[in-house]
Amino acid sequence: MKIMVTGGAGYIGSHTAVGLLQDGHELVIVDNLANSSAEAVQRVQEISGRPVGFRELDLLDEVALSTVFAQERPQAVIHFAGLKSVGESVSDPLRYYRNNLIGTLNLLASMAEHQVRTLVFSSSATVYSADEPSPLAESASLAPVNPYGRTKQQIEEALADLGAADPSWRIAMLRYFNPVGAHPSGRIGEDPAGVPNNLLPYVAQVAIGRQAKVTVHGADYATPDGTGVRDYVHVMDLAQGHIAALDFLDRHRGVFRWNLGTGKGHSVLEVIDNFAAASGREIPFEIGARRPGDVAVSIARPAAAQEQLGWVAERGIAEMCRDHWRWQENNPRGFAG
Ligand code: NAD
Ligand code: WQD
Repeated sequence: MKIMVTGGAGYIGSHTAVGLLQDGHELVIVDNLANSSAEAVQRVQEISGRPVGFRELDLLDEVALSTVFAQERPQAVIHFAGLKSVGESVSDPLRYYRNNLIGTLNLLASMAEHQVRTLVFSSSATVYSADEPSPLAESASLAPVNPYGRTKQQIEEALADLGAADPSWRIAMLRYFNPVGAHPSGRIGEDPAGVPNNLLPYVAQVAIGRQAKVTVHGADYATPDGTGVRDYVHVMDLAQGHIAALDFLDRHRGVFRWNLGTGKGHSVLEVIDNFAAASGREIPFEIGARRPGDVAVSIARPAAAQEQLGWVAERGIAEMCRDHWRWQENNPRGFAG
């Protein structure tokens, strides 16, 4: 099948692209490189040994986007493109609403115009209400607490309305928990611009010596060691989740929502310990204040993806840290190095 991958130069998109190419699909990656590098696309081709179509394009440019559909004639779209920094979305909400909402609406209009009605969308566990206890099922109530999360919820609503209006659409919304790790080759991985906000990339930069120490955001939560617990999921498992969703949509019309997580939680201190073991480096840390907006625990109930997609996350926290470290060690400055 020919698949358009928006945001395919980014972290999760590049790993999914490798999986799709290895399964024999043809790809066209559409990315404006706002948070990524063309080098990632090169390395996707290198790892898979297959060519990839690449269009440097902003989804806000609806004319250019429609032209790509006309020229490339994809049969399905996996839509990763979006801005994802929670803090930036609070300080510059209009940029987030504009990029994420209008970018997606342009994409949907182009798809409709060119009779492409199969879509896998990157949603997030951040859409769930902080009042809902973990493990979180897809039926849990939604109440994102920041503009980034609200763009995800609003896109989910638009997609549900679209599927209701025209039942010929096939739409999967995948709610990722905490994606980490990297391709086992160490050639592609997460390459955050500036100082990382997320735990794994920050810990990796401490291990490599780019940051002095980790600040643990709160050790007074009602968790076994007092630090926040999250459902970390290996990006290679996530990539397989997209392929499973696409396969399901090939057989089913309608609108579907699936959590992609392991169903297991790890605390900040457990992550630091695992990363120290994987890297053989010391990871100095200090306990700081809670980070505003954080919840104590966020863990998926991944049963629906298992039952309907036959998808289970296979890689544990040790492998996540090992693969994340291999990428960091081989590429201390990311793709720029
Ligand atoms: P990423 O920033 O590495 O990848 C997103 C890609 O989209 C980037 O390459 C960026 O250049 C591109 N992009 C952004 N706006 C665009 C536009 N207007 N036109 C064209 N390209 C554009 O992020 P990622 O971690 O790979 O995340 C992929 C998707 O998954 C995002 O939608 C993100 O919100 C979602 N998600 C990520 C996480 C996470 O923690 N990484 C968790 C849940 C959901
Ligand atoms: C994990 C844990 C922190 C950094 C975020 C987004 C969410 C989703 C995934 C896109 C928490 C603690 C972190 C540090 C720390 N992204 N921490 N020191 O907050 O669960 O989710 O990424 O959809 O929307 O909010 O992930 O990696 O930032 O934090 O102690 O320097 O690590 O408090 O307990 P989070 P994270």
